[in-house]
Formats: sequence, structure tokens, C-alpha cells
Amino acid sequence: MDKLYHIVTYGCQMNVHESEKIAGILSELGYSSTEDMERADIVVFNTCCIRENAENHAYGNIGMLKKLKARNKNMLIAVGGCLTQQINKADDLHEKFPYVDIIFGTHNLNKLKEYILAKRLQKKAVIKIEECDGRIDEGDKPLRTSYPNAWVNITYGCNNFCTYCIVPYVRGRERSRKSQDIIAEVKELVADGYKEITLLGQNVNSYGNGGADIPFYELLEKLAAIEGKFRIRFMTSHPKDFSEELAKVMAGNSKICNCLHLPVQSGSDSILKAMNRRYSSEDYLKKVEILKKYIPDCAITTDLIVGFPGESEKDFEDTLELVEKVDFASAFTFVYSPREGTKAAEMPEQVDGEISKRRIMKLIELVNSQTRAHSALFVGKQVEVLCEGYDEKRNAYMGRSEHGRMVYFGCSENKIGEFVAVKINEANGISLMGEII
Ligand code: SAH
Ligand code: SF4
Ligand code: F3S
Repeated sequence: MDKLYHIVTYGCQMNVHESEKIAGILSELGYSSTEDMERADIVVFNTCCIRENAENHAYGNIGMLKKLKARNKNMLIAVGGCLTQQINKADDLHEKFPYVDIIFGTHNLNKLKEYILAKRLQKKAVIKIEECDGRIDEGDKPLRTSYPNAWVNITYGCNNFCTYCIVPYVRGRERSRKSQDIIAEVKELVADGYKEITLLGQNVNSYGNGGADIPFYELLEKLAAIEGKFRIRFMTSHPKDFSEELAKVMAGNSKICNCLHLPVQSGSDSILKAMNRRYSSEDYLKKVEILKKYIPDCAITTDLIVGFPGESEKDFEDTLELVEKVDFASAFTFVYSPREGTKAAEMPEQVDGEISKRRIMKLIELVNSQTRAHSALFVGKQVEVLCEGYDEKRNAYMGRSEHGRMVYFGCSENKIGEFVAVKINEANGISLMGEII
């Protein structure tokens, strides 16, 4: 019988895709996937450390495996990802959880096979963290788990050093993959029947600065020229690098979805400066204007942080004002979380937790009202949905509209992997309900 693996993933889409790469490595070693962690021969935690609660979540789950490991001594436990890549974290982790067999980082994921084989021959834990060497290791083939959606990395790492953010420290400097490699991968995915390709990078529109041969908008144009019916999405875009050329290419190519995730973080100029975001609220609003000029129905989404060190009531009000002005289709809201080693963690004026809590509640209320209003706009309209799966609880098929809204619809046939026309009857917060036409 096959050996079984179970992967637990935390964090962003980048990590979700890296878990597919881990799955590829494990399947090459003869493992197959199980949903049931208790039956697994190897459990891999692919961790995140963007905020303290992401870290605590992983620690809690790794801690819970102690009993399971005591019962099943042959079970291998591996921990990798951004959490372990932080300075000294691998050793801390080993001390806290001595029953973890393998600890690896973000720059040596492709060596996991080697580490598993080594661990089978030795009692001692295999602890291997490498520094970024600036190269891109194309690695093994991922075992894709999200059909009809596929994720494709275009850049790795980040050079922006926003003062609150740990990513540049755990993901290294920005590197861009060669356009020919990306185009070849997307062509193959489309030929294999994938219908939605999401390009991934910490800052996709700086693609090209990291040693690539063409700028991002040109890459998008080339990808959109690939034959076949499929959609293209990309994330994340940094506002400072968002250009009019990009808006034009988005508007001129129907395969590129009319939505853009453009994290603003704050509406206060002094906070944006302290965050090292390198744009003002006015710059941001200008970019939004350009986007809306070319794509009037573009669904603009964002990330917002409250409670950044030194954030006054007036700064927070500036954020509310900017959110009002842009009118986001939806937004992720976060309370600032100090990350060791970043500049902001050393700033003297850390904001009181209660104040941040009150601010985030108010911001969530505003963002939710915008989300609901955007959803309501679709009621009575027809949208094209790429059917992704079946939701047992709702007894309905589900998929996303071009604008990124989750749509649930009743249907007697299996439509997974197909584009279907759905008439929207009802909006419920961020999701829509409808019927197939
Ligand atoms: N590269 C992307 C996103 C990175 S992380 C970008 O630049 O937009 C996703 C989001 O997490 C960020 O946009 C930010 O809003 C949030 N985030 C990052 N570090 C944080 C911290 N220390 N505390 C709270 N939120 C944080
Ligand atoms: Fe972090 Fe800023 Fe880089 Fe995004 S752009 S990953 S927020 S440092
Ligand atoms: Fe988390 Fe690393 Fe992504 S810190 S958000 S998993 S890049």
C-alpha cells in the first residue's frame, strides 16, 4: 500500500502553490495524499509568519501532533515555509518541538526529497535552512490540486522593505523568472485544460526589474495571446509600480480579468511614509482614476492595516476617507502585528491594542458596506462563472465571476472546469447566488 502524506498550509497563495510543489516531491517518493492526518506517514507544515497569529496558529497545530507522534513513531513531521526561515527560528522550533523530524526553509524546498531520504537513515532531526542565493531553481513539477485554476510564479522575493513586513527577510531579493519559461508553463497548462491562470509574485508589476527580459505588461500581452478560452489573474500589484500601460493591456485583452488587488495599507500620507510604501494617498487615487478610465467596471480590492506605530485618530480617519473615495469591491483588513527584525517593530509609538481593535471594527463596518453594495450591483445581471467545485453544504455548484465574486448556482449536471452563464438572483455579503441559464 502507498505511504500517505498530509500537508497543512498557512499564509498566502504563494504558499498554497508551494504546497503543490511539496506534494509533487512527495508523490515522486511514492506517497499519496490523505485528508486524515492521523493516517499520514508524513505530515508537512508549510508555515507563514506575516502576523503573529499566523505563527501561533502553526505552533498550536505542530504542538498537537506530539501525541500522534508518540503513538506512531514512524510518522515523519516536517516543518518548512516562512516561519522557519526567520533568524534563529529553526533552532527555537527544534527546541520547542523535538519530535519534529525535518525543518527546512523557503530557499531549499526543492531539497525536501533529499532531507526525507536522509532522515530515514538517521535518528537526529534534519535541520536545514539556506540563505537566498539569488538563483531560481525551477525544481520539480508541482502536483496541482486546484483544477480548473492553476498558479504560476513569475517572481520570487521582494525588494520593497515596507517597514512592517517580514517578507523580504524570509523570501530574499526579488527574482523574475524568464518570460519564455512562464509562457511555456502557461501554454502547457492551457493545453492540459486549465481555465484560470493566476500569476504570483509579491509585487508582480515590478516583474522585469528582477532581471527579466520584458516588462510585466508585455508578459501579460504575450500570455493573453495564447490560444484557447481561459482567464488570467495576477497578484499582488504594488501601487508604486502600477502603470498606465498595464491598465491599457488589461483593458485591451478580454482574457485578463477586470479586477485588480492594489493594497493601499493606509490613507494617511505620514503613515504611508513611515511604512516606506513610496506613494502618497493622492498618488494612489490617481492610479485608481487611471484604472477606472480604462476599465470602468474594474473590481478594485485592497489590503489595509490599522494601528501602525504612530497612527493617530486623524491618520485613521484619512484611511476611512480614502476607502470612501475609492469604493473598494472588497478589502482585507489587518491589525498591525510587530515582526521581529523589521524597522516598524523598533518604532517607539506602538498603538494600544484596544485602540486598534476599535479602529478595525469601524473599518470592517465600512468595508463590509462597500462589499455588500458591490455585490448588490450584480443582482438581476448575467455573469460568466468558471465552475470550480461543488459545495455540499449549500447543495450548489460554485465558481468565480470575472470580478472575483464567488457565485453559487444550482445545476443538474457536473459543470466543473466549464464556463457557464449564471443569472444572479441574490447577493449575500461577498458571495452571489443564481441560476444557470
Ligand atoms: N506583497 C503583497 C502582500 C504581502 S502580505 C503586497 O505588498 O501587497 C499581505 C498583506 O499582509 C499586506 O498587504 C499587508 O496588508 C499585511 N501585512 C503585512 N505585514 C503585516 C504586519 N506586520 N501586520 C499586519 N499586517 C501585515
Ligand atoms: Fe511586504 Fe511590502 Fe514586499 Fe508586500 S511589497 S511583500 S508588503 S515588503
Ligand atoms: Fe506568509 Fe510567507 Fe506568504 S510570510 S503571507 S506565507 S510570503
